[in-house]
Amino acid sequence: MTTPAFGRFFLPGPTDVHPDVLTAMQRPMIGHRSSAMEALLQGVAPRLATLCRTSRPVLIGTTSATGFMELAVRNGIRRRALSLVNGAFSERFAKLVRAAGKECVRLDVPLGCAVEPDMLRDALRRTPVDAVTVVHSETSTGVLQDVAGLAAVAREFDDVLVLVDAVTSLAGSPVEPDAWGFDFAFTGSQKALALPPGLALGVASQRMLERAKTLPDRGLYFDLVAFEEATRKFQPTNTPAVSLLYALETQLARIEREGGIEARWRRHDAMRQRVETWSEERGVAFLPREGRRSWTVSCLKLREGQSAKVGVAGGRLDDRLGLRRAQGLDHTDRPHGRSHAGRP
Ligand SMILES: Cc1ncc(COP(=O)(O)O)c(C=O)c1O
Repeated sequence: MTTPAFGRFFLPGPTDVHPDVLTAMQRPMIGHRSSAMEALLQGVAPRLATLCRTSRPVLIGTTSATGFMELAVRNGIRRRALSLVNGAFSERFAKLVRAAGKECVRLDVPLGCAVEPDMLRDALRRTPVDAVTVVHSETSTGVLQDVAGLAAVAREFDDVLVLVDAVTSLAGSPVEPDAWGFDFAFTGSQKALALPPGLALGVASQRMLERAKTLPDRGLYFDLVAFEEATRKFQPTNTPAVSLLYALETQLARIEREGGIEARWRRHDAMRQRVETWSEERGVAFLPREGRRSWTVSCLKLREGQSAKVGVAGGRLDDRLGLRRAQGLDHTDRPHGRSHAGRP
């Protein structure tokens, strides 16, 4: 088996993992109730808070991001949610609402578009709900939604919680759970954090926590109340993926050394701009409009009659830019190329 060269890996997750982070994962195990584990969790807590721009505890789960999507639904929705759907992952969020036995009202927009705050206001006036689900950076279409504006609209209504999938935005572009008034925001380790898959991070507001306490069917593994309580004591809820915690510790220190979260945002924005320049020069259009483009995932429209296999996603230049044909998410009529920039 040939090992791919470091830095040549452009999937929209998992992303490439720095060799220092991989090495850190080789450390011996520690017990999950040991003082070493407590010290590890206490050590990463302030760096996680800085990364997630919050004064709330940052929850760490041994799960892929979908696990924390489920946590959001089970702990944040009382009876009925409005799901903003503009692609594959917002569709998953909506499906999860129903799978958890809650009522789901949908607000769909065409692929490549964002739900705008006025549209949300109209929908909330028409249909009373107790939560809104929204994906910040919809990986399947490269759309970055105005989640700050959407959360502000939701707050105009009484007791409507805002549940945000920040999976391909957090650590790659600004996400401000406290300042923007999110009730739950979550991400996965394998995206802009450039860690191996297997960890989810989440931040819950106090009002989300209060709501969770009133919901009887929030389950056990993703019980927010238990998660918060354990996190405040620097304890894991169950046996965590210890090696991934070593990786997290090492990567957080690397991010800090490289200038912190804002430097990381700037780097991702620069990579997005590079793809924009490339596509403008070649007359290849972006799927989302300007101002609604993800900083970590760029989705481009192939010209009429152009096959995705031989089109923009096939040549040498595309290798340098990291353009790839979207795999497993081929739900649009028109094929599109995409790049991902969540580099270590
Ligand atoms: C926006 C978004 N949400 C959710 C997920 C699901 O993440 P996971 O596969 O870690 O459960 C992904 C994965 O690509 C994603 O891009």
